[in-house]
Amino acid sequence: MSDTADYLTPSRKRSRWDVDEEDTQIPLSQQPPKRRSKSRSTISSVPDHPQPQQKPSKPEARQGSSERRRPTHSIYVPPRTSHPQLQPSRSVYSYERLNSIEEGSYGVVFRARDKQTGDIVALKKLKLDEEKNGFPITALREVNSLMMCKHENVVGIREVVVGDTLTQVFIVMDFIEHDLKTLLTVMPSPFLQSEIKTLMLQLLSAVAHCHDRWILHRDLKTSNLLMNNRGTIKVADFGLARRYGDPVGVGGLTQLVVTLWYRAPEILLGAKEYSTAVDMWSVGCIFAELLLKEPLFEAKGEIELLSMIFKLLGPPTTHSWPDYHTLPLAKTISLPPPQLPQLQQKFHYITAAGVDLLSRLLTYDPERRISATEALKHPYFSESPFPKHPDLFGSFPSAAAGEKYVLVPDRVLIF
Ligand SMILES: Nc1ncnc2c1ncn2[C@@H]1O[C@H](COP(=O)(O)OP(=O)(O)OP(=O)(O)O)[C@@H](O)[C@H]1O
Ligand SMILES: [Mg+2]
Repeated sequence: MSDTADYLTPSRKRSRWDVDEEDTQIPLSQQPPKRRSKSRSTISSVPDHPQPQQKPSKPEARQGSSERRRPTHSIYVPPRTSHPQLQPSRSVYSYERLNSIEEGSYGVVFRARDKQTGDIVALKKLKLDEEKNGFPITALREVNSLMMCKHENVVGIREVVVGDTLTQVFIVMDFIEHDLKTLLTVMPSPFLQSEIKTLMLQLLSAVAHCHDRWILHRDLKTSNLLMNNRGTIKVADFGLARRYGDPVGVGGLTQLVVTLWYRAPEILLGAKEYSTAVDMWSVGCIFAELLLKEPLFEAKGEIELLSMIFKLLGPPTTHSWPDYHTLPLAKTISLPPPQLPQLQQKFHYITAAGVDLLSRLLTYDPERRISATEALKHPYFSESPFPKHPDLFGSFPSAAAGEKYVLVPDRVLIF
């Protein structure tokens, strides 16, 4: 189906802003109305509602008696004048679209320029097209979590802007040149140990920050870790995040979280309640991926993933995971015969402290899995080689900004 056809399909409406120039050649009758950006910005600076201190005017004497009795607002909802003064969202037309960074099966992320400041930003279009029950809670959680978790190593949210219809809502973020997944595939050689330490310290400090604010990310993976050309990591994609202190519904927390390869064993085994430890397992998988320059568990399905985990760590025992047998799906799994873990062997080129940190992250029992705050103090980070200063990281061409790579052995050429 062409993009133009997509535009016309009611379930995947796009604003004029996010379709290509040639795609906008649609009949005039179907074009969205022209926006009057000037009048919008006037609205945003001068609220047209009476100020709280203003007394509501008395009903006109000439009004009929029935009209006089009708309240001006629901008695259950405070009048608008009692709400905090909210500014309306700006229009997506405040930004000039430059290129699309990533078009997945659900959403699109664009690189754009702020017309007022000239800043380069990233706009993520929220997945609202199929929504029938109003603004989805997941989209609210994404915006809310990004706002709650502001930190040097969490992608910065600038504002939320709107397109032509109610289903066109975009999160505006700082533009970050790379995601770690793309970077790992195009880099000619893996990161150095000193670089991995810096990246891990940044990741752990972002995760500790989110967990301190009661936010579980629930989708940590290398494609959700952005990295700028100054050696700084930013955790992104809070699309599956939620507060973990909130009451949990009767069905428990959903198991449809965390991309398979990074999913903790307690989720794979159907745990109805889980916590910050699920993020720490994903951090362990990311640590291993940085060392190996390829994902640790490239499984096709859940059973294959479990058997890969059992092979690397040895099958769980009553000693290593006392609660294993209480998990809903434990009875359906036949454990392989006891075997020695292969972790040490697989990562023989890192120090004992490095293997120790990895095994504390990839610990079966979520109760005993290391927390982000504890991991930040692990001796791995204070032994030689020491973490590299972010300023000393090399820079790479940014695929997201349309810069091209050409790989030749041991070198990356930029075009
Ligand atoms: N602020 C940003 N700056 C630059 N690139 C970004 C930014 N945010 C996201 N991206 C790019 O867009 C991709 C998709 O973004 P994100 O993960 O937030 O969306 P998503 O639709 O939830 O993706 P998925 O479901 O595939 O995880 C990222 O992997 C990254 O390459
Ligand atoms: Mg993502």
